[in-house]
Amino acid sequence: MKKIIITIDGYSSCGKSTLAKQLAAQLDYVYIDSGAMYRAITLYFIQNRVDWTNHDAVKEALHDIHLEFEFNPISQVSEITLNGENVEHMIREMLVAEKVSEVAAVKEVREFAVAQQQKMGVKKGIVMDGRDIGTTVFPDAELKIFMTADAAIRVERRFKELYAKNKNISIHEVKENLELRDYIDTNREISPLRKAEDAIILDNSQLSQDEQLKLVIQWVEDAT
Ligand code: C5P
Repeated sequence: MKKIIITIDGYSSCGKSTLAKQLAAQLDYVYIDSGAMYRAITLYFIQNRVDWTNHDAVKEALHDIHLEFEFNPISQVSEITLNGENVEHMIREMLVAEKVSEVAAVKEVREFAVAQQQKMGVKKGIVMDGRDIGTTVFPDAELKIFMTADAAIRVERRFKELYAKNKNISIHEVKENLELRDYIDTNREISPLRKAEDAIILDNSQLSQDEQLKLVIQWVEDAT
């Protein structure tokens, strides 16, 4: 079967990364979590007190940021490193989630991330999830998926995920963060979250993970 590029875009907490990981494992593809790149940049800006409303400060700081994905044989997925340090856990914290959409709306940040993402797709055989992958990063991808799920289901899923790691988190806080990120991501000037015209909509509110995977594998077969 020829290797293709699969893009998965959609709102926060639709289960994009779960599907992307399963697809990558089944197809022996590389999985790239593009959101992790924006989160790692945000973490760097917070840690180093970079003012992301100042374009010159952002440009200068980006010179000092080196992102890479390394495969973790235990978790069986690639995890992000920021200047050599694995920051996979830190980037999932609320502190980062609260600011990431503001940082991801900055032109220089997007150019920096998109250029690297496009390089990763040169050899194909890649599944990448995010917000602008089918529209901006890989407009010629062979299979584009736009995921949605009921808002209440998305909040519940993300809450369970975060609560497992941090018992101090409230469902209200999670709901507010998802709504805020979706609002900023959809309304920003550069590469806002949109369904690519040729993307297939996948609403997984009523689908089990197995049903979803089976359906998408069929789409992959149709596209290859
Ligand atoms: O996918 P995840 O929820 O981890 O993404 C975190 C944030 O990164 C999003 O809310 C969005 O602001 C930004 N993002 C983006 N473009 C992408 C992936 C993520 O703007 N391709």
